[in-house]
Amino acid sequence: MQTPLKKWLLKGVLSICTISCTTAIIDEGTVDDLPVITRVVTYQSDIQSIMTNNCITCHSGPAPNANLDLSNFQNVRLTAENGVLIDRMNDAINPMPPSGILSPKIRQLVDKWAKDGFPEN
Ligand code: HEC
Repeated sequence: MQTPLKKWLLKGVLSICTISCTTAIIDEGTVDDLPVITRVVTYQSDIQSIMTNNCITCHSGPAPNANLDLSNFQNVRLTAENGVLIDRMNDAINPMPPSGILSPKIRQLVDKWAKDGFPEN
């Protein structure tokens, strides 16, 4: 039997679901959905802060995870050039950072940096 309270609850749950589902779709949009970046992306303009904000807690210091220090340009460039950094940042199943794949916006910047030839500045 449907009481008004039950109906109300059901409506509430349904709208929460709709809102969160919509948000999830926006969050998980692909890099291809974004406007193309026309400017040149450099390590100093964007990549360094992406590493600082998302990677160096584990990938720096005297004993970095995977023995991979991402706190300087040379190492970030080498790891990006050999493909492993970009692969792992775009790996939906085994992403870096391990807490979850980063936004398309951030991953698009890294892709563009690679396209631009990994400039420092
Ligand atoms: C919470 C800690 C943590 C954070 C944050 C983190 N990593 Fe890692 N990373 C690890 C661990 C642990 C491994 C080794 C295990 C594995 O490969 O999954 C690893 C492995 C890697 C590897 C593979 C190295 C190899 O030789 O195969 C790459 C590339 C990498 N991380 C890049 C990144 C990048 C780029 C970021 C930021 C966008 C990042 N990681 C953030 C913990 C972390």
